Amino acid sequence: MTRDISQVVEKLRTAFADDDAMLRWGADIPVKHCSDWTRLPPVIPLALARPRTTEQVSRLLGLCHETGTPVVPQGGLTGLVGGAHPVEGCVAISMERMSGVEEIDAAAGTMTVLAGTPLEQAQAAADAVGLMFPLDLGARGSCTIGGNVATNAGGNRVIAYGPTRNQVLGLEVVLADGSVLQSMNRLIKDNTGYDLKHLFIGSEGTLGIITRAILSLRPQPATTITALCALPSAEALVPSLAALRSRIGPSLSAFEAMWPDFWQVIVAQAGRKSPFARAHGAYALIEMSGFDCERDEDRLQIALSDMLEAGLLSDVVVAQTSRETGDFWGIREAVGELRSLMGSLISFDVSIPAQSADAFVATAVAALEKRWPDATHLAYGHLGDNNIHIIVRVPSAFDEQPKDLINEIVYDAVARFRGSVSAEHGIGLTKKGFLHLSRSPIEIATMQAVKATLDPRGIMNPGKLFDRRLSREEIP
Ligand code: FAD
Ligand code: LAC
Ligand code: ZN
Repeated sequence: MTRDISQVVEKLRTAFADDDAMLRWGADIPVKHCSDWTRLPPVIPLALARPRTTEQVSRLLGLCHETGTPVVPQGGLTGLVGGAHPVEGCVAISMERMSGVEEIDAAAGTMTVLAGTPLEQAQAAADAVGLMFPLDLGARGSCTIGGNVATNAGGNRVIAYGPTRNQVLGLEVVLADGSVLQSMNRLIKDNTGYDLKHLFIGSEGTLGIITRAILSLRPQPATTITALCALPSAEALVPSLAALRSRIGPSLSAFEAMWPDFWQVIVAQAGRKSPFARAHGAYALIEMSGFDCERDEDRLQIALSDMLEAGLLSDVVVAQTSRETGDFWGIREAVGELRSLMGSLISFDVSIPAQSADAFVATAVAALEKRWPDATHLAYGHLGDNNIHIIVRVPSAFDEQPKDLINEIVYDAVARFRGSVSAEHGIGLTKKGFLHLSRSPIEIATMQAVKATLDPRGIMNPGKLFDRRLSREEIP
């Protein structure tokens, strides 16, 4: 279908003439909407739409469907794979005006939020009624619930509570043609056919626009204890995780592993203070969330002492104040500053069977160093979820990094250890060339069959997730 671009903008202007804040176009589009955290070369959308209601999203998509205009949903723009990056000629749909917690049912442990609500705001609302929304990640101040659902975000507490998927009871979604799918379930058990919400969780804006979510809340732990552990070697990470799990079980709410290369850069370049007097072979930030004020601290102390005695740990510092807790997490989360400190880099977000985590890192790093002796690599991750992040930079290649080769080397190692090319960030634009390494042709064809059914004109976030669109004959 050929589109008269000026006609599309004109139609949108007429349709939303009653809402001054709804549309921006041309030079009026704020620059932040022209790229996301991935910092790919900016693309100026045809128009920026900022709906306030589901009805507006519905009318907007109806119009884009009718005119065959691509749309790119945007939440807090903190995605790390270019999922919210505009495509040529698109209408970027920012959810920033659809923000707010609509209802909390403390007795049922549910919360209804609009999709543009920042994660931190949802966490605070749960906190205010003595409950907890357990999803937590470094981008909490900016990322939105809609973006978290669309990427099935993981974060720091998956080890105890599971990823975003586990926190969602119901969704309201506007489909590509503007129809509104109300799937606002509040029930824990509801086996009445396909559970449609799961199609949209992790769909990265390619199937519809999430406008509302019913989230499940948990009891607020009575004690939260944070400790930084120093380990004699990276090989000790997995046995330490196992030891802690067996000692404090489901109370282990975070186990964030940091290899020495990561630690060194954070301390030397990002200006964070190490609580340890000397360097160690690996580090782990652990958190215990318990419900027994009397005994939780002792249980953890005894577990850590035994681990020290057994040689699994070489040092431990338990945070004594909330400031210290913040400082410890500050070391782990300073990674968000690395892009500005290190310049052009490639970041990997892979899943590796836990027992092979260190062997994977060693294999990938050895292969990178063999090819480029000056390669910088920082390994860290949510080890309890088998999720390793590696950030790679090759200074000798200046900013012209041989990205294809770096990808090939790391994904070769992922394949050797039977891992996945994305644990939590998704596929978006930057990883779509590698989807086939983790998904079979029939899986990809089935995904595309779902997409073709829900979005027959292919207007929803085109060019994301899939390397190419399959022809009708190729779709089962
Ligand atoms: P955006 O970046 O705006 O969009 C992400 C994707 O979702 C895009 O494909 C977009 O089209 C789609 N989308 C957004 N809103 C909607 C909607 N309402 N309906 C349909 N589609 C939509 N991720 C983790 O999983 N774990 C981490 O620990 C983690 N830590 C991070 C730390 C930092 C410092 C940063 C910058 C990012 C981190 N991320 C992490 C990545 C990112 O924060 C998450 O992917 C987050 O869920 C994205 O939310 P967002 O609102 O910013 O979405
Ligand atoms: C983290 C993000 C990058 O864990 O996923 O820091
Ligand atoms: Zn992560």
